[in-house]
Amino acid sequence: MRAEAFTTPLPIPPTVRPGTEPVVLPVTRTAVSLLPGAATTMLTFGGTFPGPTVIARPGQVVDIDVVNELDEPAVLHLHGAHVAAAHDGHVRDLIPTGGQRRYTFDNAQRAAHLWYHDHLLMRTAERVYRGLAGSYLLVDQAHDGLGLPNGDERDIPVALTDKTFDADGQLVYDPVGHTGFLGDVVLVNGVDRPVLTVEPGLLRLRILNASNARPYRLGRADGMPLVQVGTDGGLLATPASRGEVEVWPSERVDLLLDLSRMGDGDRVVILDAGVGDLMAVDVTGGPAEPAILPTSLGPAPDLDPPEVVRTITLDEHGGRFLLNGHGFDDAIRDVYARLGAVERWRLVNTTSFGHPIHLHLVSFLVRQRTSSGVALPLRPEDEGWKDTVLVRAFETVELDARFADHLGDFMYHCHVLEHEDHDMMSQFRVVDLGRIAGSNRVRTAAA
Ligand code: C2O
Ligand code: CU
Repeated sequence: MRAEAFTTPLPIPPTVRPGTEPVVLPVTRTAVSLLPGAATTMLTFGGTFPGPTVIARPGQVVDIDVVNELDEPAVLHLHGAHVAAAHDGHVRDLIPTGGQRRYTFDNAQRAAHLWYHDHLLMRTAERVYRGLAGSYLLVDQAHDGLGLPNGDERDIPVALTDKTFDADGQLVYDPVGHTGFLGDVVLVNGVDRPVLTVEPGLLRLRILNASNARPYRLGRADGMPLVQVGTDGGLLATPASRGEVEVWPSERVDLLLDLSRMGDGDRVVILDAGVGDLMAVDVTGGPAEPAILPTSLGPAPDLDPPEVVRTITLDEHGGRFLLNGHGFDDAIRDVYARLGAVERWRLVNTTSFGHPIHLHLVSFLVRQRTSSGVALPLRPEDEGWKDTVLVRAFETVELDARFADHLGDFMYHCHVLEHEDHDMMSQFRVVDLGRIAGSNRVRTAAA
């Protein structure tokens, strides 16, 4: 039932540019066309897969009213958002069947490619697999001076997911073993090996790995390097030329294709080192003016030295992956992070699996990798502001983050969604030590 390669046009999810009115986002069970000649029942945000692409500016306050039309609870998490705890989609903040919840995102952060997905406790994997995911772009004007496609028709969200279908074109979900679910077919924006047809010029692909468990190693079929300009937390300081770019679940990578010297009939194929061809970009018309790629995209990321060091272990007990030796328990906070402080978190992987670890709330910088005490080089993909980092088998990764702006409970977890659900997820609480110290003083004075 696979489509013939490069015949289906790349679907572009509908775009929502919020104004002053709240965006209404229903959660529905909907038939979606993924395979030729079949209608696949999915769970969707807004009736499409992927869900609509929300495009907003940094600093713009966006209200999203999520209306749950499913016969089970739902919850929305905006992955990569530096957001107040009440709007972060904590697993305890469920929207009941028939209910509605307003999420307010103040978007007080850098321009970046965020994404939203369901986060139901113990059920996230199946629900995201069945379709509950979409892109959310923060685009700024400063960025316009760089001459890159930026929130326009040459700036394309590209979600990679892998699915398995039965003979009727319905989704099969049967995770077995330790790797998490791996589907038979990789879909790009919901279809098999699509083609995007564009005029010559620069093209920006905002790659999102929305797969449950599958990592991708992206490259070009013609052997030319990929140019990476952005990562989870926005633009890199300089464009990076990479033969291959590895993208683990929930990671984002912005790729810039220079098609300006191409013309009618030229084609660029993006592939994965494991599964092969993913999509084609066909050029039509032209020629265009040669594009000038910026050599600098902005300041190098910087953080003060850490004030405190934490250690988190990634472990395995009785066939389950855990954090700090326990599964998710709403009564446990592994870390009381200090509001405003830069903290170093050492993620110590004692397992023989690699885990892409995601922290809610913050962007971080990957500082060091070691294995058995021996320093390893950072991965090229570690560069820039990240919210998810691969911790390979038996490796220790150190990252630095500032826990600014928001108090309360936030989750962190492996983004192999089957690991997250069972039970490689925990939480941290951001606390204001200044306020605690202040109230102690008051108590002492009164005593
Ligand atoms: Cu995509 Cu809890 O995250
Ligand atoms: Cu994992």
